[in-house]
Amino acid sequence: MSIPLGCFFPVGFDFVVVGHGCPRVALLRGRGRRKCTWRVFSLKELHSATNSFNYDNKLGEGGFGSVYWGQLWDGSQIAVKRLKVWSNKAEMQFAVEVEILGRVRHKNLLSLRGYCAEGQERLIVYDYMPNVSLLSHLHGHHSAKCLLDWNRRMSIAIGSAEGIAYLHHHATPHVIHRDIKASNVLLNSDFQARVADFGFAKLIPDGATHVTTRVKGTLGYLAPEYAMFGKASESCDVYSFGILLLELASGRKPIQTLSPTVKRSITEWALPLVREKRFREMADPKLNGNFVEAEFERMVLVALLCAQGTPEKRPTMLDVVDLLKGKANEKRTILENDDMFKSDLARNSTESAVFDDNSDGKSKEKDSKGHMNQESDIKFESADGR
Ligand SMILES: Nc1ncnc2c1ncn2[C@@H]1O[C@H](COP(=O)(O)OP(=O)(O)O)[C@@H](O)[C@H]1O
Ligand SMILES: [Mg+2]
Repeated sequence: MSIPLGCFFPVGFDFVVVGHGCPRVALLRGRGRRKCTWRVFSLKELHSATNSFNYDNKLGEGGFGSVYWGQLWDGSQIAVKRLKVWSNKAEMQFAVEVEILGRVRHKNLLSLRGYCAEGQERLIVYDYMPNVSLLSHLHGHHSAKCLLDWNRRMSIAIGSAEGIAYLHHHATPHVIHRDIKASNVLLNSDFQARVADFGFAKLIPDGATHVTTRVKGTLGYLAPEYAMFGKASESCDVYSFGILLLELASGRKPIQTLSPTVKRSITEWALPLVREKRFREMADPKLNGNFVEAEFERMVLVALLCAQGTPEKRPTMLDVVDLLKGKANEKRTILENDDMFKSDLARNSTESAVFDDNSDGKSKEKDSKGHMNQESDIKFESADGR
């Protein structure tokens, strides 16, 4: 079913769809139903703040375009994302990011300062994050400095989990990010996490458990049900967050190239080590053995629980926050005793027990009912198939 884009933007902004069924949109200023914390910038102002988008000011680059450091007339520092090439698709990505960032506010989400839409120029203005992205510290040009000690990693894990939990459970309507990864977690001057890049985000209409969309996101972070069937829900973000946690703990990339023809995912690497309780070997060598073992184990177990193939088995982001903080003793026991962490021998014996259980007709019926319920959920597809 196709839903006009305007249906997804019920409050806060005037969001005009230009032309019938066409994704060209015009963003107008908010009507002031909620306090506006952002404003419209002129292109001239952003040219002067960034020294005419000088190459030396460039902070990073993504699919949408380049991001530049800048300074406004009042001395405050900003980051400006400038669209590379104008297209209907890019216009939609710009509008979605501004719309969603404009309506969410949380200590662990990047704040929107405003936007500029003049001619074919599309720019988004954010608070500047002096420690750039988690990616640059784990694998990029900041990695040699080893600035991510264990305490910082723990606080980045909890902070980004809280930001995503806010999107899933407290924002109205709920938001799924769809591109959780290390380059989209930015770090402020105190190394606190700010989840960024809402260009692929989706609003989940009230009462819907998932939306069926064209697949966006990044290889290595995509939940299987989303990669294969385009079924996007909060639990896809949970999966990606699990991969990010493993990356944060181990310093390894989501996909490792073993030979020109063989690749291994970070979960394929981690699970056997966890089953043999070889946690110490899994830690990022840059930590030099300096980490709190109990916290490290917790981070890895939570990560694998998040990044499991069956979406129904993944925790919610609220559970993840509690588990990472070491709250929820009961949940932690369940976590530690999860079948996936048992050694091969122990697992084989429980698997055959489970098989025997399911040979009972009743439990089969229960399963198929659960499945039918799930299939009858409302599915939404937006105008552009996103
Ligand atoms: N507010 C910011 N402060 C500092 N660096 C930023 C900021 N926003 C983005 N960047 C840098 O630019 C990169 C790309 O930004 P992102 O918003 O993810 O763009 P894209 O949508 O093109 O992926 C980030 O990974 C980061 O390195
Ligand atoms: Mg990005």
